[in-house]
Parts: sequence; C-alpha cells; structure tokens
Amino acid sequence: VAEVVINDSSSPAVVDRSNESIKHNIKPASSKWRHNQTLSLKIRKQILKFLDAEKDISVLKGTLKPGDIIHYVFDRDSTMNVSRNLYELLPRTSPLKGKQFPTCAIVGNSGVLLSSGCGPEIDAHSFVIRCNLAPVQEYSQDVGMKTDLVTMNPSVIQRAFEDLVNETWREKLLQRLHSLNGSILWIPAFMAKGGKERVEWVNELILKHHINVRTAYPSLRLLHAVRGYWLTNKVHIKRPTTGLLMYTLATRFCNQIYLYGFWPFPLDQNQNPVKYHYYDSLKYGYTSQASPHTMPLEFKALKTLHQQGALKLTVGECD
Ligand code: CTP
Repeated sequence: VAEVVINDSSSPAVVDRSNESIKHNIKPASSKWRHNQTLSLKIRKQILKFLDAEKDISVLKGTLKPGDIIHYVFDRDSTMNVSRNLYELLPRTSPLKGKQFPTCAIVGNSGVLLSSGCGPEIDAHSFVIRCNLAPVQEYSQDVGMKTDLVTMNPSVIQRAFEDLVNETWREKLLQRLHSLNGSILWIPAFMAKGGKERVEWVNELILKHHINVRTAYPSLRLLHAVRGYWLTNKVHIKRPTTGLLMYTLATRFCNQIYLYGFWPFPLDQNQNPVKYHYYDSLKYGYTSQASPHTMPLEFKALKTLHQQGALKLTVGECD
C-alpha cells in the first residue's frame, strides 16, 4: 500500500523549537509551485483503502436510534447514550455526497496568518474548511470569511466560550453559530468522554434556536483509519490533529488542496515570533508532551507533500 513516501526521513519528531522554522523554509506563496495531479489522485486512492470521507465524515440517522449505546473512541470503557437531540441532528445523507470541488482551502489556526493578507485568496476557493470555530470577522483580511465546513472539538466550548457559564458566553456562542449560515458544523462527539456535556449543550442550542447549520458527527472508525493511513506511510503520529484530519478527508472531494495557517513553530522563517493561534493567547506549551498531537511531525509530512505538488502550503504573505 505504501507507494507514496511522504516522510523524507525515518527519524522521530524533532522538536527543537528554536531552530525548527529555519529548517522548514517554504518559498513564499508567489514562488513556483505546480499541482501534481497524478500524485493527488494516487493519494486519494490510497486513502480510500483506509476510509471514505463521504461516509466517514458523519454517522447517518439510519444507523442509530435514540438510546443506542456508544463506546467512546479514546475512552473505550466509557459509554454514552444517543440522545434525542443528537439523533435529531444526525444527517440523513452525507453532507459530501457526490461532491467534487476544483480547489479547497483548509485554514489552520496558527498565528502565521496574521498580516498575511490571505483573506481574499482563501475566500476565492470553491470550498473552505476551518477549524474549531475560530473567529473570522475581526481577522477577515488575513483569514477570509467564507466557511463551508467548520470543526468544533468539544474542548472549544471550554477554551473559547468559558463552558457557557453565563448568558454572555451563551450569547457569544449563539452568535458564532448563527454566523455559520448553512455551513457544515463537524462535531467529533464520540471521541472522548470529557466532551459529553459540551456536545449536548451545543446540540440543544442548535435545535432550540433553529440555527441554520448542517451538523455532522464523524464516524467511530475515522481517527484510527486516518492514523492507519499515515502510519502506513511512515508518519508516526499519535493522534492526528484536526488540520491533518481535514486534509485527509479533503483528498476525497477536492481536486487541489491549499493549506493556510499551518505553522506549529514559535518563530517564522525570518525568526519573528508567531502566535500559537491567530486569535487567542494560547501558548506553545500546549503542543508539548501533555498534548497527544505531534504537530511538527505532521508539518514535516505536509511540507514533503507540498514539495511534491500534492498540496500547497502557504506560510507567508499572499500576493
Ligand atoms: N495548526 C498549526 N499550527 C499552529 C496551530 C494550529 O499547524 N500553531 C493547525 C493544526 O493542524 C491544527 C489546526 O491548525 O489541528 C487547527 O488548530 P487548533 O484549533 O489548535 O486544532 P487542534 O489542536 O487539533 O485542536 P484541539 O486542541 O482541540 O485538539
């Protein structure tokens, strides 16, 4: 299966953060980059051996009923019951059924986006994927506004919306959800038991306020399948980040894939400081041992794919 060699070395993740950005010198957006259609199709075909984004993007209504018991993917001894609200919000058919887009943007949350001026370029893509309900309005010049799919790890409710402790935070989340205006809201509800209540709160808000979003809840096998694909290609990730998950899914329905805001290093290529997130004050320690992610290792794999023309990474200013 492993014909595409994505990792350019077999060494483990290098996390020497001070020098990392120098090693990852990526030419500015305007420099020569050619899409490698043959390689993209080959990758799509390989990934299809592990998962099918059309199906795995969401569990469908027909496959569950209220009261069904689900074991959490990462906390296998803990279970949840499918609530009436969750059942209500499961899609009847895949939100990506039969979809093919000429170009897609996947927008990561790195501070490298600040002052990039990439907003208009991002918004010009046919399908735009964003992560973890990151704010757009105040940053539109650099990150754009168009959102066709946005992810929401349950932890975001705690991190960015203070666990809805009072009316102000509930209102903030409501406004963000209203602004999604028909896009797909992708909620990994079956991953970890810690997200249980947060998922329920969001589901309830969506139904109560008739929020116009198309909810999707990734399949139970998605994470292991994605990890399996990358492991087969010698990328030894512990748990794929949202960004890598989105790239892996997007290969199925996007002809060309453009990545923005992927830069898990505290310094940019000119050694200037880069915020971990473009919109908050979360620090880099967040990606250390405490976190199951191996972002620098993922980045290395994505960089290799960029060099091979399978995707395009933009880590500087847009034209
Ligand atoms: N990302 C990056 N460099 C950063 C921050 C984020 O490359 N400095 C990319 C990662 O692929 C990440 C995605 O942008 O998955 C979205 O960022 P974030 O919301 O921080 O995602 P996760 O860390 O995956 O989410 P969580 O912390 O909830 O697991």
